Amino acid sequence: MIQPPEVSLRCLGCGAPFPLAGDLASPAACPSCRRLFPRTTGGALITLPGEMMSAVVREVRDFWETGAQWRISNDLQGLPKGGYEVDDAPRLAETLLRVRGVEISGFLLDLGLAGRKALEIGCGPGDYSIMMADAGAQVVALDICPTRANSAAVGLRTLGALKEVRGAGVQGSAEQLPFDDAQFDLVFSNGVLHHTPDTPRAFREAHRVLKPGGLFLFSLYHPCSREFLVETLLIQGILQLRLFRYGRNWLGHSTEWTDAPGRRADRSLLRRFLFPRPNHNPVTRVYTLRAVRKLCDGFHSLCRLTPRRLDWLPAYLATR
Ligand SMILES: C[S@@+](CC[C@H](N)C(=O)[O-])C[C@H]1O[C@@H](n2cnc3c(N)ncnc32)[C@H](O)[C@@H]1O
Ligand SMILES: [Zn+2]
Repeated sequence: MIQPPEVSLRCLGCGAPFPLAGDLASPAACPSCRRLFPRTTGGALITLPGEMMSAVVREVRDFWETGAQWRISNDLQGLPKGGYEVDDAPRLAETLLRVRGVEISGFLLDLGLAGRKALEIGCGPGDYSIMMADAGAQVVALDICPTRANSAAVGLRTLGALKEVRGAGVQGSAEQLPFDDAQFDLVFSNGVLHHTPDTPRAFREAHRVLKPGGLFLFSLYHPCSREFLVETLLIQGILQLRLFRYGRNWLGHSTEWTDAPGRRADRSLLRRFLFPRPNHNPVTRVYTLRAVRKLCDGFHSLCRLTPRRLDWLPAYLATR
């Protein structure tokens, strides 16, 4: 069975708080200004429609909405492409750890999730949110793309057919979180906040919605990594002249991909060199530890969890 998490929303129209409660199938309404929040077919709540986004955030949404880097686990693990099957969810933690070779799933589970209220920012297809719900957290899976928030909502429901789940998918922006202050014990965000136009604002928002003492586990691209120095800077930036052709957002022209669905995302170096990706990501940046410290100014403490080696996507833990 699935129920909504016990979390208070904040209306982006008038600022009034109201519970993320009720029937996951019908629209929600702000009790103060009566603004209606529609839902996607899978039940995700839409809090920031396109007309309320800045032009660049809309561009970011459109980039991710058109299918870039969709479900990581699919190709590699034979998980179904069309959506989760009932028995996928319990395998997710193990799958994510094995497939992606990133420690962040391990760090996440080590935090002890049972009974915690967790927000995932930029949930993509929802893998981590489903994993957190499976570990007993009350989860809100948020993404700027309706289809991604929807995918997470469907995954959470699927898990809800197996066990008691408290979870919901919400479409909204990291830069204007649609939640009241101090709602979450944990905010989690993997590989997202270097793609949003105003990253400092997103960090302030994460801080705002965390309870005092709450944890922020996140990862951000790092320039001292093989992916950046060799594959991105040397090959794409210098040899393929992107650094000179595209100027400020040359990184957006060199990271991520918008290959047609079905094509393998991880192409060989030679193929990448010969056939550059046609589209570009509107926002991509890299952050040194010093820059991460600056982003976390308002937090009580910060540590880098991933050991210092040439890691493209190190994980950090900040305490509010
Ligand atoms: C690289 S994917 C990562 C997905 C997921 N966190 C994972 O690790 O598989 C980046 C995701 O962030 C979302 N995103 C980008 N900017 C956002 C914003 N301002 N607010 C919310 N989500 C955002 C994109 O739609 C996309 O799903
Ligand atoms: Zn309102």
